[in-house]
Amino acid sequence: MSVSSRRRIGVGILGCGNVGSALIGLLEEQRSAIAGRTGMDLAVVRVAVRSASRARAVTVADGVLTTDAAAVVNDPEVDVVVELIGGIEPARDLLAAALRLGKPVVTANKELLADHGTELYAAADAAEVDLLFEAAVGGGIPLIRPLRESLAAEPVRRVMGIVNGTTNYILSQMTEHGTSYRDALAEAQSLGFAERDPTADVEGFDAAAKASIIASVAFGARVPAGSVYREGISSVSDVDIAHARRLGYAVKLLTIAEQVGSVEGKPELAVRVHPAMVPVGHPLASVRDSFNAVFVEGDAVGELMLYGRGAGGRPTASAVLGDLVDAAGNLCRGTWTPVGDLGEAVVSPIDNLESEYYITMEVLDRPGVLAAVAGVFGRHAVSIRSMEQEGLGDQARLVFITHQASERGVQATLGDLRDLESVRGVPALLRVVSRG
Ligand code: HSE
Repeated sequence: MSVSSRRRIGVGILGCGNVGSALIGLLEEQRSAIAGRTGMDLAVVRVAVRSASRARAVTVADGVLTTDAAAVVNDPEVDVVVELIGGIEPARDLLAAALRLGKPVVTANKELLADHGTELYAAADAAEVDLLFEAAVGGGIPLIRPLRESLAAEPVRRVMGIVNGTTNYILSQMTEHGTSYRDALAEAQSLGFAERDPTADVEGFDAAAKASIIASVAFGARVPAGSVYREGISSVSDVDIAHARRLGYAVKLLTIAEQVGSVEGKPELAVRVHPAMVPVGHPLASVRDSFNAVFVEGDAVGELMLYGRGAGGRPTASAVLGDLVDAAGNLCRGTWTPVGDLGEAVVSPIDNLESEYYITMEVLDRPGVLAAVAGVFGRHAVSIRSMEQEGLGDQARLVFITHQASERGVQATLGDLRDLESVRGVPALLRVVSRG
């Protein structure tokens, strides 16, 4: 069968930055292989860009580039719309318009899905077309499709992930080379992982948007990004990382979504992003540099981990292209993969968390200080599992690991410790992950 006798699918791409250019290149490379395998000829017919004169990594044929994104969506030659511009507007309007026209949409826009996923999923289901977003979380790692499809009937208990490559790179440098946070961040910036303003990555906003998507897909329930508890890594010190390492843990910025109960028939979910101490034997502890991984625990499947490149043009384009082939195939077959009704969830506040904790503080090194500190832990029913002291001249650093304790009790402990005259350095806290 010649390519011309195959079904031609017109692809409209919104945005031709790093991922858009990589997608166009990858599609050119793979076009005949895709046609051979699927009988579909995927042709890029329109590409919307902000500036038509900007130099790009790929050559786009004359007449394909436009600065009018709405014209791409409305073009009758465009059968499937790929959105790679990011941000909320105009992406939200453009995607809604594409879905209204009955055109399947592929997007990598985590921010849009985290904030407006419910309305877009409903619009896709109403139009009976695909809204696919594999590249929105974990870059090139097939993650959304396994959660949505392969694990659709799995009683998932917990999903824990390293879904931000920049912070994983910074923490890896701090762990492996004793680099300070500031130097590791500067390195990440010089290598192009971290933005000039690194807030979205280092303060956990990027991971929180991804947590909202993961939780919604894994538990089939609405989890708005604003309900995700979030702490970043900017206050993690190289001292804490060195202590953690000696105690047998790696420090990772974790995205955690778990079902902790149910309330009136709705799943009660705890969804959070924070730095955590992961036992070195845990598979997530060995995820280094800018790699991402997501570790799933389910009642039937047990434990599984998906690992790979969470960012970058070609890995992300690979996920987008997979979605594009899927959406085009469904379009040809007159079908689609519904997101399904996302039910309501009750999101459990962080105060309700039960965990083990690492707590460290600098104190005056004199008689009675340890007893006073231990007394504060005891008053809040926080039981100490281990303690060590390190001398610092006339001061000392105390490092505690607690037994399972309540977040509420631990936060009250920290509050009271700050008021003790003998406690000098503000106590630092890391939550310790246990094997589920
Ligand atoms: N900035 C993200 C990261 C990639 O560092 O993983 C885009 O989500």
